[in-house]
Amino acid sequence: MAGRALTYAAAVIVLTCTAHAFHTSPHDPIIAQVTDHRNNHLIGTPTEHRFTEFIQEHGKQYNSREEYLHRLGVFSKNLLRAAEHQLLDPTAVHGVTPFSDLSEEEFESMYLGVKAGGVNPRNSGVGTAAPKDVRDLPEDFDWRDKGAVTEVKTQGACGACWAFSTTGVLEGANFIATGKLRNLSEQQLVDCDHTCDPSEKDACDSGCSGGLMTNAYGYLMKTGGIQTEESYPYTGKAGECRFDPEKIAVKVANFTNIPADEDQMAAYLVNHGPLAVGLNAVFMQTYIGGVSCPLICSKKRVNHGVLIVGYGGKGFSILRLGNKPYWIIKNSWGKRWGENGYYKLCRGSGMCGMNTMGITTVNGRSRHTVAAGINLAAGNGTKKGSTVFFFLAS
Ligand SMILES: *[C@@H]1O[C@H](CO)[C@@H](O)[C@H](O)[C@H]1NC(C)=O
Ligand SMILES: *[C@@H]1O[C@H](CO)[C@@H](O)[C@H](O)[C@H]1NC(C)=O
Ligand SMILES: *[C@@H]1O[C@H](CO)[C@@H](O)[C@H](O)[C@H]1NC(C)=O
Repeated sequence: MAGRALTYAAAVIVLTCTAHAFHTSPHDPIIAQVTDHRNNHLIGTPTEHRFTEFIQEHGKQYNSREEYLHRLGVFSKNLLRAAEHQLLDPTAVHGVTPFSDLSEEEFESMYLGVKAGGVNPRNSGVGTAAPKDVRDLPEDFDWRDKGAVTEVKTQGACGACWAFSTTGVLEGANFIATGKLRNLSEQQLVDCDHTCDPSEKDACDSGCSGGLMTNAYGYLMKTGGIQTEESYPYTGKAGECRFDPEKIAVKVANFTNIPADEDQMAAYLVNHGPLAVGLNAVFMQTYIGGVSCPLICSKKRVNHGVLIVGYGGKGFSILRLGNKPYWIIKNSWGKRWGENGYYKLCRGSGMCGMNTMGITTVNGRSRHTVAAGINLAAGNGTKKGSTVFFFLAS
């Protein structure tokens, strides 16, 4: 594969994420007026009762009666949408979430929108790792049990999921290499990393407006490494780069994409630590818990970057289909979203595009890679003849 031209078959996008943000954008007063009238009928209904509970639970503040009525209308629609998602995704629980006062359009445009058309996110010089033996993998596996996963973080009103996904992989790899768990700095990536995909100049890392984990690894290889969260704390806003090479906590030597086959992903996960992936977040706005396994979830709209930390062998059951396996996914929307900040997604069918972000054609043969499927082998693993990449922690 090395040295040959790659033909990219699929569009790749910059992940613009979703965020855990509740400050709603100033909305159009005309829309508010119209909706005010429409929403008067909701006053005093059980829907309004649930809305006031929601406001209390999430500490929401609306500045005017108009805003209140408008958000009540949106909330009411989201109750319907959650019910629809419930029908489409019966093995998960959908309902009121911290995002229930944002319309689907707001949720998408503020936190999900596709920023750039592009091609494969594979950085030049970074190949796809060799397939692994998938026999004898444990039925259940969870890096959290081994202490390799930091606490769930909160990206806030900033489309920086790509940075959180990136640090999650490094935190895991660093733990495996050194036995120490450290929070690593998303803010360094948000402020300093403006790397563009070598094959797609519009697919650039741009702070709170999206990015790609593969770009971020390219940046980290170039710049030398990443600081800790403590030495470069998260602000949730893009600012001036304050990276200090003296304070590098973890160095990145190289990274690789891994085969997108979900058995391969499991093998890499078990052997080398948490994996960064992109997926379509459409069902996540209403997700409360359980294993999400929607009947329909477009694989083409990959818009959110997350971290796979484990999997379960038999998590849930669809009528007559028996127990099905699932992935355990760390999100960056705080602990009050999902299952204490985590998402479970059914495993084995590329659900919501979780393994399809970087479909490529190599030498005319169709080949799948996990788009941001970055994998860093621990410690001094310089295994000859394989594409296991090592990762140096200082
Ligand atoms: C990273 O790995 C790729 C793929 O094997 C290799 O071509 C490249 O030279 C490596 N880069 C560095 C900096 O080691
Ligand atoms: C990571 O940061 C969080 C929030 O500040 C803190 O509670 C946690 O203990 C930190 N974890 C590590 C391993 O330092
Ligand atoms: C690094 O290499 C040494 C010597 O070959 C070995 O004993 C050690 O287990 C390796 N460490 C890791 C994390 O692979």
